[in-house]
Amino acid sequence: MPQLRSVVLGVGAYLPAKTLSNAELSKLVDTSDEWIVQRTGIKERHIAAEGETTSMLGELAARDALANAGIAAADIDLIIVATSTPDWTFPSTATQIQAALGITHGVAFDLQAVCSGFVFAVATAEKFLRSGSHKRALVIGAETFSRIIDWTDRTTCVLFGDGAGAMVLEAQPSQGGADERGVLTTHLRSDGRHRAKLHVDGGPSATQTVGHLRMEGKEVFRFAVGQVTDVVKDAFAATGLTPEDLDWFVPHQANRRIIDMSAQKLGIAPEKIIATVHLHGNTSAASVPLALAVAAADGRIKRGDLVMLEAVGGGFTWGSALIRW
Ligand code: ACO
Repeated sequence: MPQLRSVVLGVGAYLPAKTLSNAELSKLVDTSDEWIVQRTGIKERHIAAEGETTSMLGELAARDALANAGIAAADIDLIIVATSTPDWTFPSTATQIQAALGITHGVAFDLQAVCSGFVFAVATAEKFLRSGSHKRALVIGAETFSRIIDWTDRTTCVLFGDGAGAMVLEAQPSQGGADERGVLTTHLRSDGRHRAKLHVDGGPSATQTVGHLRMEGKEVFRFAVGQVTDVVKDAFAATGLTPEDLDWFVPHQANRRIIDMSAQKLGIAPEKIIATVHLHGNTSAASVPLALAVAAADGRIKRGDLVMLEAVGGGFTWGSALIRW
């Protein structure tokens, strides 16, 4: 049966110029390069300059993705921005990026699923494109977590960084085979009982402040490794594919230990893991597209490869997207 499928035309990324190394962080709080690398694999993170907002990072990642896709901004009719650190309470960061790109047609909106945001946005865009309502989507993950970090709290401030990544998807005809290009399947989950384990202690309605990120690290670690693999198994079950068929596993870049333990639990070979967390720390919704952009640019991810995206974040939220590149 002929149908529409969302095909990846290109990916892009942007990291702010300023870096913050573990050694520099150890002057701010009681920590060390050795502790951070051993517990998380993170070596440095990027920090947005004063006045450099989430929409500015997102716009630059979007321009990089458009160039990589070889299409013009005017060809886009759907923009979804995954972020938990919007420029403003409203209007959405997506509309600010739409305006910055000079796009006045189509639709742009934000989506909030914290670190799972990009996978949720891919799943959402994919459904729009598959329905035939829109033709080309810009899916962006952009964050300035440095603005909601408590820089006196060593249990959280060493983990996060700023950045943005983007993907261009296009609706193309497909016969529906697993060997044909495009998003094959997506699986999303959430469970709102876990707010206390990972949350921001401020917001417009509750406190009229922006607030700071608070986390019970051990609990989040346990959930991320213990629970999240179900959505990856669901993706394999839905397509009849297996971990052996996979070329690349691109999980949320929060912590190298979580990434390795998840892959091991899923039976995914270590050489199939794309990990960039050492370069930028946890950039929340930006982490998966940042990793994709690095691996596509260095030639690891190639056309026709089978790529599994996976992410977990506050809420809790978690999800997977299986893509024939
Ligand atoms: N530097 C030095 N010591 C530290 C630091 C630090 N930055 N942070 C905590 N410690 C200390 C603790 O105080 C504790 O000391 P104590 O034994 O004297 O009490 C000791 O190190 C061990 O602390 P734990 O919390 O037990 O360390 P753990 O091995 O669990 O590692 C970590 C902490 C890295 C946060 C881990 O729990 C983790 O990775 N959790 C997942 C968090 C995560 O990735 N969140 C991302 C957001 S959610 C998401 O993206 C899915």
